[in-house]
Amino acid sequence: MNHEGSATARAHSNIALIKYWGNQGERLRLPANPSLSFNLAGLFTEVTVNWGADADSLTINGEQASPKATARVSSHLSALRQRLGFQGMAEVVSETNIPLGAGVASSAAAFAALTLAATTAAGFECDEATLSALARLGSGSAARSVPTGFVSLPAADTHAACHARSIAPPNHWALADVIALIETAPKKVSSLAGHRSAKTSPLQSARIKSAAERYRQCERAILTRDFDALAAVVELDSNAMHAVMMTSSPPLLYWHPASIAVMNAVTEWRRSGIPVCYTLDAGPNVHCICPQEVAPTIREGLRNIPGVVETMTAFVGKGAHVILDHAIS
Ligand code: DP6
Repeated sequence: MNHEGSATARAHSNIALIKYWGNQGERLRLPANPSLSFNLAGLFTEVTVNWGADADSLTINGEQASPKATARVSSHLSALRQRLGFQGMAEVVSETNIPLGAGVASSAAAFAALTLAATTAAGFECDEATLSALARLGSGSAARSVPTGFVSLPAADTHAACHARSIAPPNHWALADVIALIETAPKKVSSLAGHRSAKTSPLQSARIKSAAERYRQCERAILTRDFDALAAVVELDSNAMHAVMMTSSPPLLYWHPASIAVMNAVTEWRRSGIPVCYTLDAGPNVHCICPQEVAPTIREGLRNIPGVVETMTAFVGKGAHVILDHAIS
């Protein structure tokens, strides 16, 4: 069956409090350990998919995307075509306010929105679990941008079981992510290459073995709104992932001097009684997690740290949703 419909979907980026790093199965992007995140309100990607094109194409923020980005999107569309059993080529138009490839998880929002727009435009009404599992095929962390609020992704070993679910809605806990942007240039090493090299680190097996316990501590801290417990486990988990990165072959060192300056400042602020903790993804930017009311203070503090070029603040956001639906099938 050929489809000709179009649809637009929006998905937010997310910040992992317990990180996914390394795959147990690369082809299906089945993560080696469970992860936990919250969606970032205000940092989003809107994707429009028009089926019925002559070839798969991609524009990002009004410009034709690179052959590499287009190929990644086309291969995700092929996975959807194959799994859902339909044919056709799509014009994909992506608009985002997230700095691309800067460790602010632009691929998570993009692949969550792409999956929802592409399936909706083709006339499918997938449930949340199916959508999340499909989004995971495009980018592991994209699975977590499908459900709302605080979201968990298990380290399941089959495609169908490996989908994210919401553990609490956005209004459960008024947290903020104040992001210290240290560099907005695209990163040199892709996440995929990083996931692949994780197993070369002698520390990865210990990280994986202890991840389930950190996951439990983090989930409990979120459900009971215990900031001190959250801060301790979030920083430990981020440091454990970066220790793996640094000890992989070849080593991946994402931290810049300014990243370390921000981490030290966060540690000092917490020692002085301000509830805030840090976490870093595969990039030099530092995500400062704090209660919403503390965000302006953190923002001010970050502005005074040399090397911090900009800050962005995001509260807890909702899941992927359809904005426009013109499915014809
Ligand atoms: C460090 O989801 O970006 O942000 O599946 O290759 O797209 P791909 O990887 P990606 O990896 C996320 C890594 C992380 C941690 C996390 O978000 O859990």
